[in-house]
Amino acid sequence: MKSCAGSPLAQLDCPTQWAGTPMVLSCQAVKDHSPNLYPEERALLDRCAARRVNTFSTGRRCAHTVLQELGVAPAPLLRNPDGSVVWPTGVIGSVSHTDDWAVAVGAESGQGPGSAKAMGVDLELITELSPKVLAMVATPSERDEITGDGQQPWQATALFSLKESLYKCLRPSFGQFIHFHDVQISLTGTAYPTVSIRNEALAVHCESKDLELRLSVTLDHVFSMVWWRYSS
Ligand SMILES: CC(C)(COP(=O)(O)OP(=O)(O)OC[C@H]1O[C@@H](n2cnc3c(N)ncnc32)[C@H](O)[C@@H]1OP(=O)(O)O)[C@@H](O)C(=O)NCCC(=O)NCCS
Repeated sequence: MKSCAGSPLAQLDCPTQWAGTPMVLSCQAVKDHSPNLYPEERALLDRCAARRVNTFSTGRRCAHTVLQELGVAPAPLLRNPDGSVVWPTGVIGSVSHTDDWAVAVGAESGQGPGSAKAMGVDLELITELSPKVLAMVATPSERDEITGDGQQPWQATALFSLKESLYKCLRPSFGQFIHFHDVQISLTGTAYPTVSIRNEALAVHCESKDLELRLSVTLDHVFSMVWWRYSS
């Protein structure tokens, strides 16, 4: 794990073999790193507000840290039409940011069973979701699981975060929007949540057994990661 000291991920007992593939994480405090961006990256920020300049430039800084750790030659990280990062050939990864922290994860993309095909990452500040937002994000069964007796306030944020990670992991290859109710997640295993895919086309595209979900919760933040393995 690179440059995560003092961050919400500092306490993360991050198994670098989390999903069977060595992966690198970088989490850094959000500030203006735009002077360090490549000109091609800075061009993506045309007319953006300061907040976006800061989150984008810190996210790119994390991503470049990850690539350096993976031994990949430095180069601009541009943007696909769907908003995802154009990673160098042979690398998969994902970026997320709150107003305070940015995180990037990356790994070499393998070809063999169990190795990495795509990944998504998400960092969220724990907040209460209104009943309206919760209904949009959670299926009835998910709502039952996270609103019952003894449930914790972070669980709704965790569910939301896992769905954002899933979206980032699968949207680029699926090529279509993925709705919140297209997947159903169970948090019962907390650190190792499980997912079932309810959208038929998405289930053909990706079998839920090939998805690894991970969750880490601090006092303030939820960190989630989803990783898609090649079928074994
Ligand atoms: C795109 C989206 C996932 C971004 O999540 P977010 O919590 O708003 O923002 P985050 O800071 O966590 O992530 C932003 C990063 O996601 C990445 N991203 C953006 N669009 C992406 C996409 N289509 N696929 C993969 N990654 C994407 C980018 O790297 C972006 O950062 P950058 O622009 O600085 O490079 C979210 O705004 C969205 O549109 N969600 C769609 C609905 C959904 O989540 N459905 C769930 C289905 S299960």
